[in-house]
Formats: sequence, structure tokens, C-alpha cells
Amino acid sequence: MLDSQDSSNPSWRSIWRSKSVSLDGDDILDALIKADGFDTGFGDYDTSGWRAMVKDAFERVSVTGPGSVLEIGCGSGAFLHEISSLSDCSIYGLDYSESLVSNAQKYLPSGIFKVSEAINIPFEDSSFDAIFSHAVFYYFPNYEYAVEVISKSFQKLKSGGFLCLLDLNDSSFQVDYHDFRRGQLSNPSDYDARYAGLDHLFFDKDLLVNDLLSIGFTNINFFDHKVKSYLNSRFRFNIVMQKS
Ligand SMILES: C[S@@+](CC[C@H](N)C(=O)[O-])C[C@H]1O[C@@H](n2cnc3c(N)ncnc32)[C@H](O)[C@@H]1O
Repeated sequence: MLDSQDSSNPSWRSIWRSKSVSLDGDDILDALIKADGFDTGFGDYDTSGWRAMVKDAFERVSVTGPGSVLEIGCGSGAFLHEISSLSDCSIYGLDYSESLVSNAQKYLPSGIFKVSEAINIPFEDSSFDAIFSHAVFYYFPNYEYAVEVISKSFQKLKSGGFLCLLDLNDSSFQVDYHDFRRGQLSNPSDYDARYAGLDHLFFDKDLLVNDLLSIGFTNINFFDHKVKSYLNSRFRFNIVMQKS
């Protein structure tokens, strides 16, 4: 069911906000991964791949000791669930989907979660050693929104803190990406109608780096996806940077 205000015009926001979640079964991490959408056939993760992906990302941000970690667009908390098993960090998450945030809070009770648009980072009294955002930026409405989220993240980082953006669509592969997804459907000609109005945002790496430098980030590094069997890995990139 979609938001009444959006019902004639589905948007990613209305889809994520109305996502109903079933967390049956013993394997909570597996259920959280599925709740966060990695079970659609376009880019699935199993728990061992997921653990390897999160561990790799976490090792790229040198948070030692009991630091504080925020995820922007945390969904049901699958990413943060793993961070909490890898570290003693305080965990914070925000997402605009109330149903997903309530799962995150239920299965990671020590975390602090808020329902919020990415562009309005709450947690006024906190600053972070690391901010992550995994598989979220391609849902943003436009590039300017993404840059504003990055700029707000910069303000919320401690000096020396890291921002790590994972799984961003690379504009060099925009045509290949859609061709691949179209080919995954039993009836490829359904693709354009199915995704009408549901754009995926793409990022030009050079433009992004220029904007990151203007915001004040240093030590900007791209890195490959850890799990090559994640089908989207060939069209997307990861990037980590530091607030010096
Ligand atoms: C594919 S899921 C990824 C969830 C989580 N990061 C993970 O890796 O398991 C994308 C998430 O981004 C959230 N999202 C997308 N756009 C957002 C925005 N503008 N503000 C807040 N959350 C957003 C969705 O609600 C959804 O939970």
C-alpha cells in the first residue's frame, strides 16, 4: 500500500515506507538482509557474504575503542547488526521508513534509531567516529540532495572521523545496469513500465570527488566490492573519506 499522498505516483519513499516485514525464522541476520531488499534477484546477499562485506567496510574506517557509528538509511539494521558484532561502538541509525526502523530498534535494542529523511540528520547532541550509508544513495531524488547529505554528514563527524558510502551507482555503467536488470526479468519489455517514475540515481566519480574536496574531506579512496557474487558490484562503487 502506498502513501495516500503518493498513491497516484509511486516513489521510492512511498515504497520503502510501506514495506511490510516478516521476520520469521531463527536466522535474524538473514531476515534483516531480506527486509532491507537484498532478496529481489537483482542483487542478493547471503549471510556469509554480508558479514564479509560489512567487515571489509568497517576495517576501512579506523574506529578503535568504543566509538560511535551512524548509518544513514539503516533500514532494518542489517548493516548495523553486523557492526555491533564486530565492535563495541555505540550504534545510531536513521531511515525514513518507520516499519524498518521499528525492526532495527527491536533487533538491536542497544542502538538509537530515528525515523528521518537522510537530509535531516537528527541526533543533535551526538557526533560520530564513522558514518556509513550502504545501498541508499541511488534512491535519493537528485545529486544536489546527495551532496547535501554528505555535507551534513561532514558536520556530524568528529575530527578524524570517516564517511564511507557503499554501493553507489557509477554513471559510466548506467546503460549496462539497466540492460542487465531488464534481462533479469522473464519478460524484459516489462522493465520500463515497472520502474516508471522509480529512477535510480547515478554518480559521476570525478564530479563527486570534486564536491567531496570542496566540502573539506581528505584521504578520499575508492574501493572494490568485497563480494563479487553480489550482482550489482559490477555497476557500483564504494568510497571512503576522512574529516581531517
Ligand atoms: C536497500 S535498503 C538498505 C538498508 C541498509 N542500509 C542495509 O544495507 O541493509 C535502502 C534503505 O534506504 C532508505 N532510504 C532511501 N532513501 C532515503 C532517504 N532519502 N532518507 C532516509 N532513508 C532513505 C530506505 O528506506 C531503505 O531502508
